[in-house]
Amino acid sequence: MARWPGGTVHELREGEQAIAVDDRGRIYLLRLGRGHQFHFHRGTVPHEAIIGQPEGLIVRSSLGARLHVFRPTMADFVLKMPRASGIIYPKDMGTILVYGDICPGATVVEAGLGSGSLTIALLRAVGKEGRVISYEVREEFARQAVQNIRRYLGDTPTHTVRLQDIHEGIVEQEVDRVVLDLLEPWRAVEPAARALRGGGLFLAYMATVPQVTRLIETLKAHGGFALIETLEVLHRNWHVEGLSVRPFHRMVGHTGFVTLARRRLEGAEALPPPAGQGAEGAEGEAFKPPVPEAGLEEEGGEWEGPER
Ligand SMILES: C[S@@+](CC[C@H](N)C(=O)[O-])C[C@H]1O[C@@H](n2cnc3c(N)ncnc32)[C@H](O)[C@@H]1O
Repeated sequence: MARWPGGTVHELREGEQAIAVDDRGRIYLLRLGRGHQFHFHRGTVPHEAIIGQPEGLIVRSSLGARLHVFRPTMADFVLKMPRASGIIYPKDMGTILVYGDICPGATVVEAGLGSGSLTIALLRAVGKEGRVISYEVREEFARQAVQNIRRYLGDTPTHTVRLQDIHEGIVEQEVDRVVLDLLEPWRAVEPAARALRGGGLFLAYMATVPQVTRLIETLKAHGGFALIETLEVLHRNWHVEGLSVRPFHRMVGHTGFVTLARRRLEGAEALPPPAGQGAEGAEGEAFKPPVPEAGLEEEGGEWEGPER
């Protein structure tokens, strides 16, 4: 059974991951084990000083340095875990989970598995009732990814790894989501179209503009996809201290673009209802939003969605 770090258990246990954060904000990832020592440039800390203590404690190293100890968030963990490949960064994970609508119970096919960074996020989002099937062509990457996933989530019976080239086909059928992070996602459009159920969502993460262009041309030429859109998310940290409130001088300038598309049902164009039987707000009639009651603020603003 997968464990979900950050749950309700407060004491840090043997075998768990922890982060030690020094006064300069440097983060060190530890796996807690009796008899082990954490070494860094400002001394050592025996793991016994941490095991059994509540999360959030402060420890002192042998040289007197102060360290805060927490369980790693998913973002902390993926940035510190061993990597076999490039990874999807936390800011893009968030975008993929929300715009890709990765929800509890969903069946998600992804490729490639890489170091397992995105997979950790997908597994957490689909929960105990969902499934994630990861395609990967490089066995050594898959091995590292599985180790990372296990280290953070424990056993994950909802995860299947296929050492297969996704360009050659997807075994699963009627899947809810196909999520791609590989070099030539356009080569997986046809397999994804065959595997996705109507309404299913296709998502690809790419680093460069030529990749995006080629993918979009392929999606459009295929004809089985609607609502094609591309976005990127910029993330800028701020320095906030006294009167010095300004953006950090350095930021993650670019990671990647996310292209999304919805699988449409082929040959299933719904006919409009016969004249006179149309429901209010049906096609052809302008939808009239309800007028807010006097004195009540209208909630939120209207957003027309991205240009497509
Ligand atoms: C950038 S890495 C994925 C990183 C991963 N999303 C993460 O967050 O850790 C790309 C991976 O795709 C794999 N790959 C490339 N082409 C593939 C294919 N046709 N089928 C399956 N895996 C593929 C590569 O071996 C590599 O591990």
